[in-house]
Amino acid sequence: MGALAFFLDLHPALGDFRADVIKGLSEDKKSISPKYFYDEHGSELFRQITDLPEYYPTSTEKKILIDNAAEITAAPGAGAAVFEYGSGASEKIEWLLNGLDQPTAYVAMDISKDFLIDAASAIAKRYDLPVAAICADFHGHVHIPENILPTPSKWLGYFPGSTLGNMTPEFAARFLRRAGETLGGDAQFLLGVDLEKDNAVLNAAYNDSAGVTAAFNLNLLTRMRRELGAEIQPEDFEHYAFYNEELSRIEMHLRAKKRTQIALDGHEFTFQSGETLHTENSYKYSINRLKALFDETPWRLETYWTDENAWFAACLLSNK
Ligand SMILES: C[S@@+](CC[C@H](N)C(=O)[O-])C[C@H]1O[C@@H](n2cnc3c(N)ncnc32)[C@H](O)[C@@H]1O
Repeated sequence: MGALAFFLDLHPALGDFRADVIKGLSEDKKSISPKYFYDEHGSELFRQITDLPEYYPTSTEKKILIDNAAEITAAPGAGAAVFEYGSGASEKIEWLLNGLDQPTAYVAMDISKDFLIDAASAIAKRYDLPVAAICADFHGHVHIPENILPTPSKWLGYFPGSTLGNMTPEFAARFLRRAGETLGGDAQFLLGVDLEKDNAVLNAAYNDSAGVTAAFNLNLLTRMRRELGAEIQPEDFEHYAFYNEELSRIEMHLRAKKRTQIALDGHEFTFQSGETLHTENSYKYSINRLKALFDETPWRLETYWTDENAWFAACLLSNK
């Protein structure tokens, strides 16, 4: 129990943020990657979202994990080490570490550096096992440093919160292929995925009455202003989220309330009234579409657990 075994900073860089914003605002349909939501304030806002009554994914996923804890935690056997992608507040890891048979290490990985260090350090203080943190973009390749942590019987990848759903299916398959390389031949992967359901439930979850999701979305503009020096009037934009049935995804946008401009590094980007900046997708899957996705990757669906409404699934994957 104590300090982090290591902290590895792969510097998912501010330079990329600037270049990606200019590229995204130059497109016909303006867009920006959701990874830029997560500065420290954005991470805290997301943590608050997970407590909202309308935001069923977190409570539903937690219930599935608790109701099936014995079976899920027995799956990897003794001596596994956990590698968590997009670990955020590291809140769901505790039920896993509590149930696993003699876990050998926990590695938290996230793009939001300060939030990651705080969350992983808190786990290191509470558990008698080596805990490490890697600040990186999971869209790139990540190599787990060798000879620092005890050698585990196997790696268990853990990716809760349906963050996989923020990727297009093509990117999700690419991510899973890379995770297969990072975690090695006999690894397993526990993946939390949000499922298709009634449109009204979906629309309410991303348009909460307290306005926290709106604040989370609009924080991107504040971040662009503070970190990049962009000239923006955030009050000219509003949160706009809806379920796109054809593509089975929630889309989140920032919509201009009137004609307005964003200026950055000598560029001027004009938004007509009603025009949007597309900030996030959240794909909703059926089990059949998940199986088709896994077929494109080195992973096989061993089994899955769901809730009584079949709103969310915890999927256990094994390397083929
Ligand atoms: C939807 S939240 C889920 C948080 C937490 N795992 C949960 O289940 O509540 C997504 C998490 O992934 C992280 N994240 C988003 N994009 C990322 C990227 N490209 N690389 C690494 N982490 C990323 C965010 O900082 C955030 O902590």
